[in-house]
Amino acid sequence: MNPRQPLVAGNWKLNGSRSSVKALATALVDGVSDVTCDVLVCPSFVHIQDVQSVVANSAIKLGSQNCSMQSSGAFTGEVAAEMLQEFSCSHIIVGHSERRQLFGESDSIVAKKAAAVQNAGLIPIICIGETLEEREAGNWQSVMSAQLDAVTAVIGIDGFANAVIAYEPVWAIGTGKSASSEQAQEVHAMLRSKLAELNSSVAAGVKILYGGSVKPANAKELFSQPDIDGGLIGGAALNADDFLAICRAAG
Ligand code: 13P
Repeated sequence: MNPRQPLVAGNWKLNGSRSSVKALATALVDGVSDVTCDVLVCPSFVHIQDVQSVVANSAIKLGSQNCSMQSSGAFTGEVAAEMLQEFSCSHIIVGHSERRQLFGESDSIVAKKAAAVQNAGLIPIICIGETLEEREAGNWQSVMSAQLDAVTAVIGIDGFANAVIAYEPVWAIGTGKSASSEQAQEVHAMLRSKLAELNSSVAAGVKILYGGSVKPANAKELFSQPDIDGGLIGGAALNADDFLAICRAAG
């Protein structure tokens, strides 16, 4: 078996109603039979139970978009990874750039969340990515390194044996302007070789997803790059046909 079975994850963000997410999940269950990659959907917290009831006994895995870095206590409004585990979530996205930029999540908070997810027995999808200013200033490598180092400092290199990385350039998210396959591959290869300095077998096994304006039209080229192991999909994940087409492009 491919040590890095591709994964395509849908990040549904702040979208949908109880009935629309059930309809979307039902369409995915109905259409997923010819998909060979791993498929994950991440609805909002309050829709998780509805989606769980639809995807149970299907090939589609369930995840969450965020969680608390705490496991319990006086943290009003938070949701713990342990609570999500009770709803059969397998993965939790941490450090999405929208969380970092709009909700003030630092590298250190993101790292603690990744550890909290693993402590609950789940797999964190750790998002990293540079802004347009950082790319244009030629800083993407140091930004990416700092974001990765902060996580490594908390979960250790061995923690990446049980984690997924998602490279999401901020300038490509929701803009319709994907990174080119060469740009994305360059970053993915850099991330993998950075991890390989610490442990080459962990680095060879870790899935690195690309996210940012992935569509059916560009998915195949992105996913055919040697270090791109699938995608984290926003807008196109809200349309079952588009999302399934992207999944098929991954294998
Ligand atoms: P888009 O696919 O809408 O660009 O969003 C990407 C993303 O943020 C996935 O987490």
